[in-house]
Amino acid sequence: MARTATRIQHRGEIASDWDRGGSGLSAEAAEFADAVLRGLAQQPRSIPSRFLYDETGSALFEDITRLEEYYPTRTETALLRTHGAEIAHCAGAIETLVEFGSGSSRKTRLLIEALRDLRTYVPIDVSESFLAAAAERLERDHAGLTVRPVVGDFTKARDLNGIGAERPLGFFSGSTIGNLTHDEAVAFLDNTARLLGPGSAFLVGVDLEKSLDILLPAYDDARGVTAAFSLNLLSRINRELGGDFDTRRFAHRALYNGRAGRIEIYLESLASQTVELLGERFDFAKGERIHTENSHKYSIGGFQALARRAGWLPMRVWTDADGLFSLHLLRRP
Ligand code: TRP
Repeated sequence: MARTATRIQHRGEIASDWDRGGSGLSAEAAEFADAVLRGLAQQPRSIPSRFLYDETGSALFEDITRLEEYYPTRTETALLRTHGAEIAHCAGAIETLVEFGSGSSRKTRLLIEALRDLRTYVPIDVSESFLAAAAERLERDHAGLTVRPVVGDFTKARDLNGIGAERPLGFFSGSTIGNLTHDEAVAFLDNTARLLGPGSAFLVGVDLEKSLDILLPAYDDARGVTAAFSLNLLSRINRELGGDFDTRRFAHRALYNGRAGRIEIYLESLASQTVELLGERFDFAKGERIHTENSHKYSIGGFQALARRAGWLPMRVWTDADGLFSLHLLRRP
């Protein structure tokens, strides 16, 4: 049953009983096992969203970004295309771009092309192979650009591996900031401020509050791509941890929590059933849910207030004509 992962992507502590028990699980699989066992044992049940992105999940997420219903990617890309020159002008002469997490390289390219003085691009991502491929492509296509990837969890990055940069520009796209709670977002913004240093700028993509007619289909599309992405988490548990989830007896649910101002993603049990994995049994009542993700939606002022709490000054914000998505340029005094 124990599968060995091809590479170990993360640093940090992975202390689980699985590890110590000589189960043969790789460190990566042991961390996944630990998170799943813990998450299913607690009430309400939840599994951290980062586990949605295995190879299959990442490919399905790419498909999500191209869906008619999923407006964030194309809207943010259009904002960068339309306002790239102005963004570059407002940011000032930028020599170093630091990107948090793996944005679609299309968006990054648009920004790189707009930043005329750019010499160094520092992508931070957990996936070493993703980083290596992106570095090769970008260096090939942009003469004079040096790519210096940093492998690690961008929410925890403490330094840039000795890459000293004068007034760098940070970039955090895709509204991934919406996947953090407000307190986590402040902590992240505070950490990036220290990482990027005084005088730096930060460009953050933030999804906006909007009518549920637009919002809900973006997280539950007609073709079922988002449902497949969501349910792949259960298939991944079956594949990697020897679980026996029957994915036909669970459904993807995307609900809007108005009080918290966020989309909440769940896997809902369609029947009363018992699931076994790693020698543990979990009973699900019909209708019982596993929480897997939050996606917070902001007003422009709401996000600016959050940025200020972390010591960033809002400089400019760009939005599309329909007010779907926003790009915020922040400055560190
Ligand atoms: N960062 C994306 C978002 O909040 C993540 C996402 C999009 C997602 N669709 C999803 C996460 C469906 C889980 C399920 O928009």
